Amino acid sequence: MRNQIVAGNWKMNNTTAETELLLNNLLEHQIREDVKVYVTPAFTQLSQSVAKLEGSPIQVAAQNMNAASSGAHTGEISSSMLKGVEVNTVILGHSERRSLYGETNESLKEKVDSALKAGMEIIFCFGEELNERKENKHFDLVKEQLSSALFHLPNEAWSQIILAYEPVWAIGTGETASPEQAQEMHAFIREQIQAHYTAALAEKVVILYGGSVKPNNAQEIFSGEDVDGGLIGGASLNADDFMAIVNAF
Ligand code: 13P
Repeated sequence: MRNQIVAGNWKMNNTTAETELLLNNLLEHQIREDVKVYVTPAFTQLSQSVAKLEGSPIQVAAQNMNAASSGAHTGEISSSMLKGVEVNTVILGHSERRSLYGETNESLKEKVDSALKAGMEIIFCFGEELNERKENKHFDLVKEQLSSALFHLPNEAWSQIILAYEPVWAIGTGETASPEQAQEMHAFIREQIQAHYTAALAEKVVILYGGSVKPNNAQEIFSGEDVDGGLIGGASLNADDFMAIVNAF
């Protein structure tokens, strides 16, 4: 049985006061033991969130990190800085990082290697743009994103990797992949892992879906055999909505 995971990607939202309020609201909810729950605040709210969530099953992850361990990288954050504030999980490869900040499959491979070397867990995001789906290139594109950044890894590294398939056309648009489209792609992803590694390894990898997951569609999306949970943007900013999604399994 694979872990079921729901992670909230807060993106560039929530000041200190707003973080306090959202975390208080989250803590009012009973958290199920069979679902792993993460929140990913901005860097400036990581320490606050870790302190506030101490003793709660909700884990704190970061939204990005630099591949370098230290040095002349103005405005960047290293894995050791994250670990220093007790954050051991990082999102890498989000489509907004790719499209707005020039991250590429090659630079993500470096980040993946660096995060793994530091012993971090990675939530690795990937997914096609609308035109790529319209041109029926989405499977090839996803295959390329996975193979260029991840398929050089040894088997044992995969225990530190969570995948998040996020079709770009579904992010923040209100348009979700249908449950069938999500399941179809997740099954394809598992097949690719099996082809490069083993069936046993592929069976263990958690694959999340992200893109306009809301309380009213989560259950249907999560019902796919290969859909192990969600990476939630907008709906993670509201504690009731986020918890309704956590409880949608
Ligand atoms: P939305 O849920 O707002 O579409 O965002 C998805 C996402 O980008 C999560 O990383």
